[in-house]
Amino acid sequence: MSVRRTAPVRVVISGKGGVGKTTLTALLARELARRGQRVLAVDADAQMNLARTLGLSAAEAAAITPLSHERGYIEETVGASPGGDGSMLRLNPDVSDAVARFGVDGPDGVRLLVMGGLRQAGGGCLCPENSLLTAAVAAVGREDADVILMDTQAGVEHFGRALARGFDQAVVVTDATANAVTVAVQTARLAADLGIPRIAMVVNRMRTPSDAERVSRLVAEEGGFPFTAVRAVPWDEAVVAADPSVEPLLAAGSPVVQATSALADEWWAAAMEVAR
Ligand SMILES: Nc1ncnc2c1ncn2[C@@H]1O[C@H](COP(=O)(O)OP(=O)(O)OP(=O)(O)O)[C@@H](O)[C@H]1O
Ligand SMILES: [Mg+2]
Repeated sequence: MSVRRTAPVRVVISGKGGVGKTTLTALLARELARRGQRVLAVDADAQMNLARTLGLSAAEAAAITPLSHERGYIEETVGASPGGDGSMLRLNPDVSDAVARFGVDGPDGVRLLVMGGLRQAGGGCLCPENSLLTAAVAAVGREDADVILMDTQAGVEHFGRALARGFDQAVVVTDATANAVTVAVQTARLAADLGIPRIAMVVNRMRTPSDAERVSRLVAEEGGFPFTAVRAVPWDEAVVAADPSVEPLLAAGSPVVQATSALADEWWAAAMEVAR
């Protein structure tokens, strides 16, 4: 029996620097959009490179104003100015129009919301920008999107800001290096602490089957983690050649596209069924 829900399926993608978070987010977003899903891609990395990776032009990407720079909107909704200490914050700002007002349309109808720089301020920072961004993601309803894919900055700090609270799934990306696996396991534990029920691992840039064995040994050395799924995406020279956009990969149907397409089928077909 299907369950009616009012929120989109929400997925956060995280992991160590340079493991392929943005590439995989863009590929999954395009894949799901091509299956007819209404996809909202959220760029929560201060580097803001998801737009180009999704296939927007340099000019289109440069024209985007990140939400954290919308000073007037932040004051109007959160009740305090960016840069303030948060002592005057409105606790439940009405930001239900943020995607409609500030989202931009990308290829295949993927809608993109660029968050911009978040303030780095330990666990429970209540600064206006962070409050707005968290509320904006939480406010996205099924009228706006079927699925949200949120690309994050490298490392674990963003979990301290709880942007992903209430998310349905975390995808932890790693490669076959010990440092990346350490960050992946730390990230998975933080996602579990936030109450995210499904936490999957993607071993990206896999060159040989021994890479997968190595990752599973490294996860065990970190004390293990009950990932709901562990899947591999192969090293694909075409990704390097296509940089910065995944567009040429989709046209060519390269190995990395075959792998992400299989992930979209396996993971999100089921999630969408529940969400219907
Ligand atoms: N499967 C792959 N095969 C080959 N190269 C890849 C693959 N996936 C990603 N790359 C390349 O690895 C580099 C890092 O990828 P990407 O920017 O997606 O990582 P990231 O985790 O988002 O990085 P950051 O932490 O800086 O945000 C890019 O040059 C990208 O083209
Ligand atoms: Mg990135």
